[in-house]
Amino acid sequence: MIIAIDGPAGAGKSTIAKLIAQKLGFLYIDTGAMYRALTLKVLDDKIDINRPEQIIALAKKSDIDLLNNPDGSIKVLLDDVDVSLPIRDPRITKYVSDVAKIKEVREIMVNLQRKFGQRGDCVLDGRDIGTVVFPNADKKFYLDAHFEERVNRRHKELNGMGKGIAFGDVKADLANRDNIDSTREVAPLKRADDAIYVDTTKMSIDEVVQVLLKHLNL
Ligand code: DC
Repeated sequence: MIIAIDGPAGAGKSTIAKLIAQKLGFLYIDTGAMYRALTLKVLDDKIDINRPEQIIALAKKSDIDLLNNPDGSIKVLLDDVDVSLPIRDPRITKYVSDVAKIKEVREIMVNLQRKFGQRGDCVLDGRDIGTVVFPNADKKFYLDAHFEERVNRRHKELNGMGKGIAFGDVKADLANRDNIDSTREVAPLKRADDAIYVDTTKMSIDEVVQVLLKHLNL
């Protein structure tokens, strides 16, 4: 069974997807983490973000994998190295949308995501899961929240991770990513026609989980 959860940054996708996967005993596949891992390699290899052909070449020779830890969190492997923490760095967040908008990069990632989806029942979160990666997913959700609330959540999350980052910087980054993710030519962020829309602005994490579980009716 495939459960697709899409939506903009800060709508609660990864938190909710992780909890749903844990409750159902499904695999959790964080597709954003894959674009982040490649972005880490692009920056570490000092590749110019404006040279898509070099980024594509790098994507072709990179090995990205996602493993589920027993506690429900995921381990992100880049060429067999655990990059779960560094991919959350603000410098990655700043450039990841530029890497994710490249058509050939998306093709490579989408193929991988479809392969991971064959490992068993899973919950995938991202921007194009219900529209492109798994258009025939068994259940699709689109999580959304007001912009200010999404900024608040991201700011809290980052500071919780010990990254002292200013509210204004989080706000600017989110606005920039919203813009690139939803206006790019290939697979822009949009709600699939058959996705269930959930506005999480005024909802607690537990309330969102309950709403999704009710729809899943498993
Ligand atoms: O969910 P996230 O913030 O970790 O995602 C990082 C970026 O990756 C996001 O700004 C857009 C991109 N992304 C994408 O284009 N398609 C996906 N399926 C997942 C993420």
